Amino acid sequence: MSEILRKQFLRHIAQTSPSPQLIEVARAEGVFFYTPEGKPYYDLISGVSVSNVGHANPIVVEAVQRQAAEYMHVMVYGELVERPQVEYARRLAEALPEGLDSVYFLNSGAEAVEGALKLAKRYTARTEMISMREAYHGSTHGAMSMMGTPEGEEWKSAFRPLLPDTKAIRFNSFDDLALITERTACVLCEPVQGEAGVRLPVEGYLQALRQRCSEVGALLIFDEIQVGMGRSGAMFAMQKYGVTPDIVCLAKALGGGMPLSAFVSSQEIMNTLTHNPVLGHITTFGGHPVCCAAGLAAMKYLQNNHIVEEVERKGALYEELLADHPAVREIRRSGLLLAVELGDSAKLYKIMDLFIEEGILSDWFLFCDTAFRISPPLVISDSEIRDSVKIIRRCLDKL
Ligand SMILES: Cc1ncc(COP(=O)(O)O)c(C=O)c1O
Repeated sequence: MSEILRKQFLRHIAQTSPSPQLIEVARAEGVFFYTPEGKPYYDLISGVSVSNVGHANPIVVEAVQRQAAEYMHVMVYGELVERPQVEYARRLAEALPEGLDSVYFLNSGAEAVEGALKLAKRYTARTEMISMREAYHGSTHGAMSMMGTPEGEEWKSAFRPLLPDTKAIRFNSFDDLALITERTACVLCEPVQGEAGVRLPVEGYLQALRQRCSEVGALLIFDEIQVGMGRSGAMFAMQKYGVTPDIVCLAKALGGGMPLSAFVSSQEIMNTLTHNPVLGHITTFGGHPVCCAAGLAAMKYLQNNHIVEEVERKGALYEELLADHPAVREIRRSGLLLAVELGDSAKLYKIMDLFIEEGILSDWFLFCDTAFRISPPLVISDSEIRDSVKIIRRCLDKL
């Protein structure tokens, strides 16, 4: 990277941390991205679970180019009939469990969460909103109000006041379900917690959560922003657990690499946004036709090539090839989302530097800085898995 570009990046791109990775991207293809000097990196993050169909997937590129040439933005969401939106919404409704068939497209994960929270308040006419400890749902005020920070308030305190009448309960605690009451508008829950460091629901928990919400008339909202679109080994993680929420939030891989999100519910619930007041939720760019065309192409690619059916086996292969390394304490995994636990944050920071040197892009988790992430594009081949594991093990040897 040229020194000028590096300086301009640091000077003009608003920074989110004191230590950005500072690797220039020249191009990306499949499971790799490349620097201008041609150094390849295994992308084991997928832009945080976005690039499920691989970088520069030709099917998606073609869909984007075609749609961009036909029409891009025309009118705010929900007024004109735009074929890519309609076709994608129908395909999602077909793949989701019954009752989740009305799709509100937006732009980002946090926005989908905002829409879902508003819908739950509007439908139930209640105000209390419950989330789970160690949950991340986005950085806007509403989504951040639902962030269940692990200990203390360090993530949220600088931004208060946030939304009132919110609280976090413990994920997987059957006792805490009693805190969901007739006052509760909604419970927001990731069926598999991502930024907590890949935490899976214990047997029967999501079923009990569903039952408690139904008993007291609270809406259950699943955040499948990170694990949806195949990453968990099912198109939607809820299908693995046989639990259907009232609303599901989708984003990240939903746009096939373009910015797209959605909250999906039944028509009965969703229709409350059309009256008292009219235009209960509006957006200019939500459901952009190019993003919908890209997402639709990506979903067709996943389905036509049976990619999701291979996810569990590929995830298990990573696990098998890494589990016996002495530096690895534990591996938590849902499909191709793995947290490789080292049990020590100093070791984690060290291995991140080693990874960069050796051509691996990994990351830790917002609420877990002792484990590194493996969430490659779902199209990764067995030989790419084996090869990337060789590099990872070489780095682990140096800890
Ligand atoms: C589970 C979950 N929900 C919501 C979000 C927020 O999505 P976005 O960054 O698109 O707003 C994220 C992002 O990491 C996430 O992992």
